[in-house]
Amino acid sequence: MDARARRHRRILWCAAALTLAAVLPAALCPGAAKKLRRDDWQQPARVVADLGLKPGSIIADVGCGRGYFTFRLAKAVGAGGKVFAEDVDAKALKSIEDRVAKDHLANIVVVKGDATDTKLRDESLDAALFVNVFHHVPKQHRPGLAKDVVRALKPGGYFFLIDWTFDAKVPYDKGRRIPRDDLLKLGAEAGLKLDAEFLYLEHQVFLRFRKPTAPK
Ligand SMILES: C[S@@+](CC[C@H](N)C(=O)[O-])C[C@H]1O[C@@H](n2cnc3c(N)ncnc32)[C@H](O)[C@@H]1O
Repeated sequence: MDARARRHRRILWCAAALTLAAVLPAALCPGAAKKLRRDDWQQPARVVADLGLKPGSIIADVGCGRGYFTFRLAKAVGAGGKVFAEDVDAKALKSIEDRVAKDHLANIVVVKGDATDTKLRDESLDAALFVNVFHHVPKQHRPGLAKDVVRALKPGGYFFLIDWTFDAKVPYDKGRRIPRDDLLKLGAEAGLKLDAEFLYLEHQVFLRFRKPTAPK
């Protein structure tokens, strides 16, 4: 076998090895490759359906990041509704602004907040959604942020809190997950009532709190 043929054979072996490395894990354990795709474990369509939004609803996506939920929420509330995409991270908000401009999405309003001040108007929201936000917020700021969003909810408005379960089988945020009891306490101390819990998310707690309709 001459040098050229040997080189050709080496390349073929390398290609075969790379293909095997890519395909084998999924073949041996069909769920493994799929599990870490967010759309699979996050179930965004089901989550949005459970928010009970109507055309015309006003919701804040607090700690919206790059808008994983924002754009889905905008579809749910329709042209007559509003989504406040709020975050402290200007870079993340810029990526939302770019898409809002490109797609002419008039029902999304981008808001740059501070640690405990969302800059949202008093009693202006039907609902607020937090997805995987609180474990990113320093502990001393969590109560202030929760209370600020309660201030911005209409009486009877909903506060949806989704965050990692403490033992979530994902490789993210292991050192800073918040026990479910502490999430419950956060809601209660902000003056909210727990009125539902959704149990279908594999890696996350999903709580629905409600702001009381009359002063306590
Ligand atoms: C893991 S990301 C989640 C983003 C988005 N909710 C999602 O589900 O894709 C956490 C976000 O919380 C934001 N965040 C952290 N502290 C915040 C605060 N005090 N107020 C609002 N957002 C905050 C971060 O800037 C970041 O964009």
